[in-house]
Amino acid sequence: MTTLVIGARGSIGRYVVEQLLAAGDSARASVRRLGSAEFPAGVSVVEADLLKTDTLEVALHGVRRVFLYAPAEGAHCFVEAASRADLERVVVMSSGSVLLPYAAGNAIAREHRAVEQTISASGLPWLPVRPLVLANNALHWADSIRSEGVVRLVHPEGRTAPIHERDIAAVAVAALHGAPADAILTGPELLSQREQVEIIASAIGRRVHVEEITESRARQRFGSMGDRETVEAILQFMRESTHGGSPATDTVQRFLGRQPAAFADWVADHTADFT
Ligand SMILES: NC(=O)c1ccc[n+]([C@@H]2O[C@H](COP(=O)([O-])OP(=O)(O)OC[C@H]3O[C@@H](n4cnc5c(N)ncnc54)[C@H](OP(=O)(O)O)[C@@H]3O)[C@@H](O)[C@H]2O)c1
Repeated sequence: MTTLVIGARGSIGRYVVEQLLAAGDSARASVRRLGSAEFPAGVSVVEADLLKTDTLEVALHGVRRVFLYAPAEGAHCFVEAASRADLERVVVMSSGSVLLPYAAGNAIAREHRAVEQTISASGLPWLPVRPLVLANNALHWADSIRSEGVVRLVHPEGRTAPIHERDIAAVAVAALHGAPADAILTGPELLSQREQVEIIASAIGRRVHVEEITESRARQRFGSMGDRETVEAILQFMRESTHGGSPATDTVQRFLGRQPAAFADWVADHTADFT
């Protein structure tokens, strides 16, 4: 049975492909542009864009399962193409923010909820995967760590439980096999942003200075991460994380029967990004 992985070059998608193969499944990787895409032997590669229904129809041909990123604009195209395919299961990489009451009005939660609702309303057999804070967010610190040995943080004492992309993929693959894990996914331990920086500094053997910045300075710095509403949503998550708004859950342990990777494990896998 073939699984189509849409966004197979993404940080989570690439592990989904790898873990499907490890489980003995057949994987088809979709990318928006062929060319430099490199995948393990045995993976077929197809060009598809969530904004172009015709490309999705080709990619979905003969497929029974799909993993996809919550496509803010492409959900309707996906539903249109998928309704003509013979799908047993669609696993949507969404966000734990959809389950946080305080985030109900924020743009990030709203977007992910809208995608979930579109897919749910279509009648497709689907399951969400809902990580809360990706450990990968720390890659935003890599440039200034490399060039200046500094990280500029708003709310440095805000605590989150970042999750390794490999663990999100493992839950997604379990969901593709029919095990629903729709509760909030996190890493194992709450760490302040400052503590996360210290773990990175220790792994690279270098002092890294934390410079606290105000929300208004952060607004300017986060401008590249999205529109004004998205930046406000990110700031809201950070503010809430200073008083328990970003929990650590046992979802990975419950669904996979093992602890998720610690933040230090994620750092060990990404040391090269910070040096
Ligand atoms: N940051 C957080 O803390 C957080 C928390 C919860 C959930 N999330 C979710 O995690 C996602 C990011 O995951 P990630 O780090 O794995 O992302 P990523 O590495 O940027 O990968 C995103 C993938 O989506 C594909 N893609 C984007 N637009 C597409 C389109 N129109 N058609 C087909 N494919 C498309 C890209 O394909 P190409 O390779 O072809 O470009 C890429 O492979 C966010 O979008 C958010 O929904 C994030």
